[in-house]
Amino acid sequence: MLYALARPLLFRKDPEDAHNLAIASARRLAGGRRRAALVRSTLARPALLPRRVMGLDFPNPVGLAAGMDKNAAAPLAWWAFGFGFVELGTVTPRPQAGKPRPRMFRDVPARAVINRMGFNNDGAPAVAARLADQQARGLRPPFPVGVSVGKNADTPNDRAADDYGLAAAAVAPHADFLSINVSSPNTPGLRSLQNPQELTAIVAAVRGPAAGKPVLVKVAPELTGDLLRSVLDACLAAGATGFIATNTLARTPSETREDGGLSGRPLRDVSPARVAEVRAHVGPGVPLVGCGGVEDAATARRMLDAGADLVQVYTALVYAGPFLPAAITRGLAGGRR
Ligand SMILES: Cc1cc2nc3c(=O)[nH]c(=O)nc-3n(C[C@H](O)[C@H](O)[C@H](O)COP(=O)(O)O)c2cc1C
Repeated sequence: MLYALARPLLFRKDPEDAHNLAIASARRLAGGRRRAALVRSTLARPALLPRRVMGLDFPNPVGLAAGMDKNAAAPLAWWAFGFGFVELGTVTPRPQAGKPRPRMFRDVPARAVINRMGFNNDGAPAVAARLADQQARGLRPPFPVGVSVGKNADTPNDRAADDYGLAAAAVAPHADFLSINVSSPNTPGLRSLQNPQELTAIVAAVRGPAAGKPVLVKVAPELTGDLLRSVLDACLAAGATGFIATNTLARTPSETREDGGLSGRPLRDVSPARVAEVRAHVGPGVPLVGCGGVEDAATARRMLDAGADLVQVYTALVYAGPFLPAAITRGLAGGRR
C-alpha cells in the first residue's frame, strides 16, 4: 500500500540512487533488534514455513538474492521485511568501484532490470568487519546469512581460484553459508570459469576456508545441457554442497538498449527450467536455490515445484516493494505447501 505511493517518486530517480535510498532506509529501520522485530510482526507478518536445508534452519524459504546488499549494510532489515534468509555480496578480496555509472536500468513494461554494476563492493575484509561489529552489537538477524564471493576484475582468470579463496577466508567466520559467483555477465571473462576444470580449483579453494560451512555454486541461466551437467558433477566432486540457479541473462546492446545482465520477469520461464534441469541431474538431497523472475506466490511455487528447496528474490522488490517476501510466504502458506 505505502509502496504504491512511494514508487512513482522512487521511479523518478536514477535506479542506483533509488537503490541507495532503499539501502539507507533499510539501515535506519534495522537500527535495533526490537524495532526490526516489531516491523516483522506487525507490518510484514510473514507466514511461518520452517525448513531445514543444508543443516540450517530457515523460518521460511523466501530469501534475498545476492547483489541487493553487497556490503552487509542492513542484514537485520531484510529479516524485518519478512525474508527467510539473505545472501550478501558479491564481495571480492580487494574493494572495487565497479563499472562507471549509469550501470543500472529499469525496463518497467517488462518488469525487468538491466545491470552492469561489475562487482562494486567494499572488499571482503571490510564486509567481514561489519558483520563482526553487527554480531557484537546484537544486530545479527536470527536467520541464515550467506555471503557470495567473487574475484576482482583485474585478477587474471588463471589466478581466479586464489581470489575466491581469499574472499572466502575473510567472510567465512561470519557467514552461515558461502556462495561462489562465477555467473555474473559483468566481469569480463568470469563466465568462462564455468567449466569443470576451473570450478574444481575454485570450489577447492573456497572449501578449505569455509571450514565445514555449506558452499553453493551459482550458475548462469545460459548454462545448460552437457556443459551444465559436467559443471555440476565437478563442483560436487570438489566438495560443493549445492547450487543456486540462476544469475541474470547476459544481454548485449544489440538486444536491449543497455549492455548488462537482465533480471526479473524475463527469467520467469528460463530459471525454473534450469532448476528442473539441475534437480534432474543431481537427484534429491542436493540443496538447490531457485532464483530468477520470482515475483509472487505462484512464481515461487513454480520454483519449488521445479525442485528448488528455497527461492530468492531481487528485481520484483523494485516493482512490488520491501514487504513482497512476506506476501509470498502468506501465499505459499495458503496453498498446497
Ligand atoms: C542490480 C543487481 C545486482 C546484482 N548483483 C549480484 C551480485 O553481486 N552477485 C550475484 O550473485 N548476483 C547478483 N545479481 C543477480 C541476482 O542475485 C539474481 O540472480 C538475478 O537478479 C535474478 O533474480 P531476480 O529475477 O529475482 O532479480 C544482481 C542483480 C541485480 C538486478
